Amino acid sequence: MSDVSSAIPTRAPWWQSGVVYQIYPRSFQDSTGDGTGDLPGVIQRLDYLVSLGVDAIWLSPFYPSPMADFGYDISDYRDVDPLFGTLEDAERLIREAHDRGLKVIVDYVPNHTSDQHPWFVESRRSRDGPKRDWYIWHDPNEDGGVPNNWRSVFGGSAWTLDEATGQFYLHSFLEEQPDLNWRNPDVQREMMDVLRFWLDRGVDGFRVDVLWLLIKDDQFRDDPPNPDYDPDKPGSWELKQVYSGNRPEVHNIVRMMRDTVDEYDRRLLIGEVYLEFSELVRYYGEDLQGAHLPFNFSLILNPWEVDVVADLITRYEAELPDGAWPNWVLGNHDQSRLATRVGADQTRVAAMLLLTLRGTPTIYYGEEIGMSDVSIPKEEQVDPAGKVIPWMNRDPERTPMQWEAGPRAGFTTGEPWLPIADDADEVNVAVQREDRESLLSFYRWLLQFPRSEAAISLGDYERVWHEGGVLAYVRTDGKRRFLIALNFGGEDASLPLDGADSGTVVVSTGISRVGSQVTGSVDLAAHEGVIVALPLVDNDAS
Ligand code: GLC
Repeated sequence: MSDVSSAIPTRAPWWQSGVVYQIYPRSFQDSTGDGTGDLPGVIQRLDYLVSLGVDAIWLSPFYPSPMADFGYDISDYRDVDPLFGTLEDAERLIREAHDRGLKVIVDYVPNHTSDQHPWFVESRRSRDGPKRDWYIWHDPNEDGGVPNNWRSVFGGSAWTLDEATGQFYLHSFLEEQPDLNWRNPDVQREMMDVLRFWLDRGVDGFRVDVLWLLIKDDQFRDDPPNPDYDPDKPGSWELKQVYSGNRPEVHNIVRMMRDTVDEYDRRLLIGEVYLEFSELVRYYGEDLQGAHLPFNFSLILNPWEVDVVADLITRYEAELPDGAWPNWVLGNHDQSRLATRVGADQTRVAAMLLLTLRGTPTIYYGEEIGMSDVSIPKEEQVDPAGKVIPWMNRDPERTPMQWEAGPRAGFTTGEPWLPIADDADEVNVAVQREDRESLLSFYRWLLQFPRSEAAISLGDYERVWHEGGVLAYVRTDGKRRFLIALNFGGEDASLPLDGADSGTVVVSTGISRVGSQVTGSVDLAAHEGVIVALPLVDNDAS
């Protein structure tokens, strides 16, 4: 392996050089045989994560929940749902992860609670109760209809009438997920205490759910129509979210969360933000006192094409405020899986991209073995998001982790909550662990070297470009230089090297090339990616 000549400087926070791995607890490992993954199951698999080489795990919600949105509808922020285990299990998980050098990031869902949360039960009881203002209530309009045109992300109006008290409450998602009123100082105080509850238990950070939606227009103005709306296009929205989200005041709340997290050492605040770069980067906050990492989903949301990706890197980097640390994501529990989006042939190129771009990478469980979406017939869909919007179904990307061959893939001894993929006998950890040319072995290699090279984990870009279907960039920390060349296409390609550049291939999707020299140009087979160690440019020379 490498001679790691430039060790990662210790002054960089752990999350800048670190790699995050997302676990959807329902689907990772079941320890009880009830068909649903749980926290003791995650503990059983910690050694796997260590051997993979990731630095932090982010766990999707495991809190008590009626499970209308599989845990994103929380009825108690300070406990664990019996389905997933106990609070002691969560504490043990944090301890055991830390013992192995892994950080633990938990999901924090501040925009809404479950309608079964005692706060909402109390809030809906009467118009003048003490918790009424903890949620967003509004009188009907003059005709008795909804207060405005805001839509739920899952379809239909964002307002539901509470017959008993004659007012509507707001829900940006399901009606079982009423939105908290973040303009209320008591809500703010209570929710900061929720953060402290988990910080006191040792978590290393939070992934904040739908951060950009937390504050809505105080005048409840209608959202304008989206001129680009196409009813036949999945992912297209009828209205532009001008007043129902991304309000300027949200940044005060982000700042409040950051201040709370900063009461503790070395903790991390990640924000889920689906916005264009220019708006996304505002979530770093003024003077970088907002989220450390507002998630960058651009690689998921844009076509997998060489010019598009090159442009994304350049534009994102240009928009980043001074000193802001970038991040990249290739998949999560709400999006079609990487292997399905880019095709199995491109998964190694994608992995190499994710793990060599400047910025913190997040891997979604199963990505490392090439899990694909599992097609689930509409009548078997369990994801509630599809109730109103027919194209929405997140079940395919949430199926159980494929650990080994066999009908239940080593995930459970019972009936899995979602079907196991048909390809699980071939696409699984046990098979790939034995095969040094497997995708899993490739990920493990990428996660040890080049991630341990400061030039790649923390260095700058010398140049980013694309040519003849190849995406290329040079990363350097002033001590070492690497060229990353990725063939996005299904045909051979050749990338001319600048001037005197020649170098040594140190990582390749085709193992046999490693150690070979390149001079003048890098020739790549279809779907091939290489990392080439280049000589340092001596700026003082000549
Ligand atoms: C986020 C979550 C998603 C959830 C929604 C509502 O987008 O990632 O899974 O359904 O918020 O909480």
